[in-house]
Amino acid sequence: MKILGIETSCDETAAAVVEDGCKILSNEIASQVEIHARYGGIVPEVASRQHTLSIIPIIAAAMTKAHVDWSDIDAIAVTYGPGLAGSLLTGVNTAKAISLGRGLPLIGINHLEGHMYANWLTDKTPEFPLVCLIVSGGHSDLVLMRGHGDYALLGRTRDDAAGEAFDKAARLLGLGYPGGPVIEKAALQGKDNVALPKARIKDSHDFSFSGVKTALLRLVEEKKIINANDAAASFQNTVVETLVGKTVSVALEYEVKQILLAGGVAANKALRQSLTAHSPLPVIIPPMTLCTDNAAMIAACAYYKSQSGYKSDLSLDVVPGLKLA
Ligand code: KG4
Ligand code: ZN
Repeated sequence: MKILGIETSCDETAAAVVEDGCKILSNEIASQVEIHARYGGIVPEVASRQHTLSIIPIIAAAMTKAHVDWSDIDAIAVTYGPGLAGSLLTGVNTAKAISLGRGLPLIGINHLEGHMYANWLTDKTPEFPLVCLIVSGGHSDLVLMRGHGDYALLGRTRDDAAGEAFDKAARLLGLGYPGGPVIEKAALQGKDNVALPKARIKDSHDFSFSGVKTALLRLVEEKKIINANDAAASFQNTVVETLVGKTVSVALEYEVKQILLAGGVAANKALRQSLTAHSPLPVIIPPMTLCTDNAAMIAACAYYKSQSGYKSDLSLDVVPGLKLA
């Protein structure tokens, strides 16, 4: 079964063709990073306009790269939330138009669920029950997965998401945009010698990253940051230790078989290495290009959903605040 996936929830216009939920035939992304970099962050109106310019060429590129035409495609999958309303609308309306015009089934996908399914595009096979840490620009969720589509939220961030914390820290330190990659690069040149607090929330699996951000802000205001690279290294270590510590302890508590990592922050090498080193359980981490937003993960997720008979219809609408069911 070949599924065309479409993803436009934030600032990447992406289309991919995936066979049977695991084989990537193409995975195309039109990044808007350079456009938003000049504003120091994503401008929703600009993102939405850019999606409308890129969506048709990116779908055409995904079809060409996969060597398929419309008669080869079995279904259209599209992210309908969570994300920016104006961005999601481009993908959802394009997918609905193709579904109607070509008579193809439409499958609406939750972006967070899509991130988790990037793990099904690796050379390892996830085994249930498992715990997945989703760390993106908008979420830091610890999810227990007992089977396909069977989720329980064990922990989440009470304030900033991990990716958001990276983005804010980078801005505070004057390192630029996007925050995650620039902090990671700076950290390589720095030493972990700036004392930053780690939030400990008693009797909960929740995260909190606003404390470490505020501590960094104070140090910047008091001109106590001598070397931005050292601050970046210290910040990255603090966030990574928190994420890894909680994830491993939750996985052991729920006696799962594996730990999965997902979302843009999963592209961070320090996080990838630390989780692998500290987990007594097998860890699956998607390749870096499948951690940040892409459409292959959306098509992969749609395959498993379609296996259980799930599909959407033309009443599908965007849900910017969509939660994991
Ligand atoms: O999943 P994603 O691409 O988009 C959302 O669904 O939000 O995640 C984007 C987030 C951004 O906050 C970005 O700074 C962060 O992922 N990120 C990273 C790295 N690459 C992207 N954070 C830390 N280290 C990285 N290498
Ligand atoms: Zn994402």
